[in-house]
Amino acid sequence: MQKAEQSLETVLSQDDQTRLLPENVRESIPDSIINSRFLKLEAKRNKMDIFEKCYDLSDVDFAKKAGIYGFYRKCQGFDGSNVVYEGKSIIMTASNNYLGLASDPRVIEASVEATRKFGTSCTGSRFLNGNLEIHEELEGELAAFVGKQAAIVLSTGFLANQAAIESIAGPKDNIFSDSENHASIISGCSLSKANVIRYDHNNMNHLQQKVGELASSDKSIIISDGVFSMGGDIVDLPAMVKAAQRPGLKRVPIMIDDAHGLGVIGKGGRGTASHFKMDDDVDLIVGTFSKSLASLGGFIAGDAELIAYIKHKARSLLFTAGLPAGQTAAALQALRIMKREPERIERLQMTARKVRAAFKSMGLNTLNSQTPIIPILIGEEGLSCRIAQELFSLGVFATPVIFPGVPYGQSIIRTSFMTTHTDAQIDQVINIFGDLTKRYGLDKVRANRDMDAAHGARLHAQGKPRKAYTWTKGIGVKNYAIAGTKALVKKQIMKLAYKI
Ligand SMILES: Cc1ncc(COP(=O)(O)O)c(C=O)c1O
Repeated sequence: MQKAEQSLETVLSQDDQTRLLPENVRESIPDSIINSRFLKLEAKRNKMDIFEKCYDLSDVDFAKKAGIYGFYRKCQGFDGSNVVYEGKSIIMTASNNYLGLASDPRVIEASVEATRKFGTSCTGSRFLNGNLEIHEELEGELAAFVGKQAAIVLSTGFLANQAAIESIAGPKDNIFSDSENHASIISGCSLSKANVIRYDHNNMNHLQQKVGELASSDKSIIISDGVFSMGGDIVDLPAMVKAAQRPGLKRVPIMIDDAHGLGVIGKGGRGTASHFKMDDDVDLIVGTFSKSLASLGGFIAGDAELIAYIKHKARSLLFTAGLPAGQTAAALQALRIMKREPERIERLQMTARKVRAAFKSMGLNTLNSQTPIIPILIGEEGLSCRIAQELFSLGVFATPVIFPGVPYGQSIIRTSFMTTHTDAQIDQVINIFGDLTKRYGLDKVRANRDMDAAHGARLHAQGKPRKAYTWTKGIGVKNYAIAGTKALVKKQIMKLAYKI
């Protein structure tokens, strides 16, 4: 085995990554090695192969080599605000389990009971054989909760956005979409083949200008997150409704994805429309069960006719299996608890205010967060990954979010908080951020980050595929800027910051 590995190394270096291994050498090498190294190189050399890109995942390789890869971590246990990773218990500040109900015994019990009654799978589309009475029970309660005539439950929130958009909009229609809308809205827009008009993030003047450019016969819809999943800011619904007005015509309809609004803002957690007391101004509400409602699944709510239409037209609903009973019952139970225990939402909001104030007093930039999603602006991607790694080793789970999850040059550490975080946990998180802020100069990130973003944007505008990075002292190079091709910049990062 060792001999074969050596001979492979020799052959590969002599080969200089341009020729394939000769057949007789290949036969002498164990399958395990062939499957890993040799096949990788073989595929890489074949420029026509559609898989070629998969063998050159340089960003991921780079992060792993630099010891800052923090994705797909393996969770070994969970009790809501504490999670077990690598055998140790750490504080979770990256979950959307806002009301802490995903580990609530009442929710678990309801899920188990429904699974016993209906089994583990719907074994087919709701349209055909997979429709359960508990689906319709949940739909009735959801519609009443958000103040709409009807609702339809889908198998994920992602599919709910897709289903609503692909069935309502078509190639001749226009969709006005916020530049920071969730990926599922973007996928829905693509599926619909409608003309997508992106407006600047939460900029209602920009939206109004775009709406003003419509011809009177144009059919359109405005789609936005209610609470933005990365920035934690709330859509400016009052200004959006004004921007949607067209002189002498009906206003443009509005669809709000309230994945992060439900259970978090509005009266009793009723979401964004309720937050602004504008329930009648939103035509379609999309929600998910994977956040406050402690389950998996999603829903669309609106006028009965709209929902009936979606029920019979949306491919993302018709051609996928119905939501299993266990997940449906968990969401239903969580909804009922949420209605009965409004103090959960009050505590959640209080915790969010406390953490945001503490972060701000340290000089951290929390963008326009108004909710329990509290981003910390870092800017440079490698630094975000490194900070997340440090947090992890200090006992706090928070996620780095990099492009395209956030705009170019504006990477963040995304923290999110739950009603079940104890005061002691919150104080610990704040203290750890305080230490890191000093150590990495995170309070100074803002100016650096703005320069990065502006510089990167200029290079992009010039059509140059370049990146610019500015460093803070934490990664070893103080206020150092590197601009160049992606490959060159990465090489410099390796050399200067990580010494690899
Ligand atoms: C704003 C927003 N919409 C939709 C979704 C999709 O929800 P689900 O997890 O139910 O697919 C998410 C989930 O991350 C989200 O953040």
